[in-house]
Amino acid sequence: MKYRVFTMRGMPEVALKLLRKQGYRVQVGGNPKKEAQGVEAVLCLLTNRIDGKLMDAIGPQLKVISNCAVGLDNIDVAAAKKRGIVVTNTADVLTVAVAEHTIALLFSRARRVAEADRFMRQGKFRGWKPSLFLGSEISQKTLGIVGLGRIGVEVARRMYDGFGLKILYSDVKRNQKLEQEFNLHYRSLTALLRESDFVSLHVPLLSSTRHLIGERELAVMKKTAYLINTARGPVIDEKALVLALKTNRIKGAALDVFENEPRLSPGLIKLQNVLLTPHIASATEETRDAMAELAAKNIIMVLEDL
Ligand code: GLV
Repeated sequence: MKYRVFTMRGMPEVALKLLRKQGYRVQVGGNPKKEAQGVEAVLCLLTNRIDGKLMDAIGPQLKVISNCAVGLDNIDVAAAKKRGIVVTNTADVLTVAVAEHTIALLFSRARRVAEADRFMRQGKFRGWKPSLFLGSEISQKTLGIVGLGRIGVEVARRMYDGFGLKILYSDVKRNQKLEQEFNLHYRSLTALLRESDFVSLHVPLLSSTRHLIGERELAVMKKTAYLINTARGPVIDEKALVLALKTNRIKGAALDVFENEPRLSPGLIKLQNVLLTPHIASATEETRDAMAELAAKNIIMVLEDL
């Protein structure tokens, strides 16, 4: 047996198959503090918290922690670095899926698709009326991308090419090459919030991005604007958002991620002006397998020194 890998329950089979084919012994599930002792690799999901204590419990032979996700906020990356453990993610393979879901949320919220569906299922459709479910038009409006990483770029590109939106972005770094390539306009976060009809979040969760959007930022947004989050829940102060939605401070929101997943802030579920999906932005059949495959390959690359 060359190496041992510990993985949490729920990992797609394609990853386990690949690792076994490589001759690795794969332990699936159980308490990682016990069952992962002595393994060289941990393959984890974004719901698994991996801190320094757990790394120590697993032992000094641990070489790689492979996250089957692009976000790394569930792993104490600094603690891993200190211990010489490589941390990998599944960037790239999920970019298109997340961009597509972001756009699906934007359209569904602006055109009230989920609300209208509920209305139909409740048997409330008694005949056509000109005022029924008026939404907001999207084409030619202004979209603000907060965080111009791979996903932000793909959302921007599609919305510019497909629907003619003006695209603003804010980021810690200005990127003039991308600006030219994709017709983007750089703004400070405050200016972006002030000018955008749609604001879409694409930053990683870091201490600097926790509650990046709170009461002050929501107050700056247009009253007619929508906020979309497919990044990480804690980037928004969810309590402040509930209040902003309740008082119609902004027009609406669409959220795929939540501050205390899977729990929702009190009051959120009662609001009709928010669209909610259960952290499924990367959940396409194509992408899930690609993520699992890449996560397994990342382990092999590190262990075999490829
Ligand atoms: C999903 O949220 C991911 O980080 O892959």
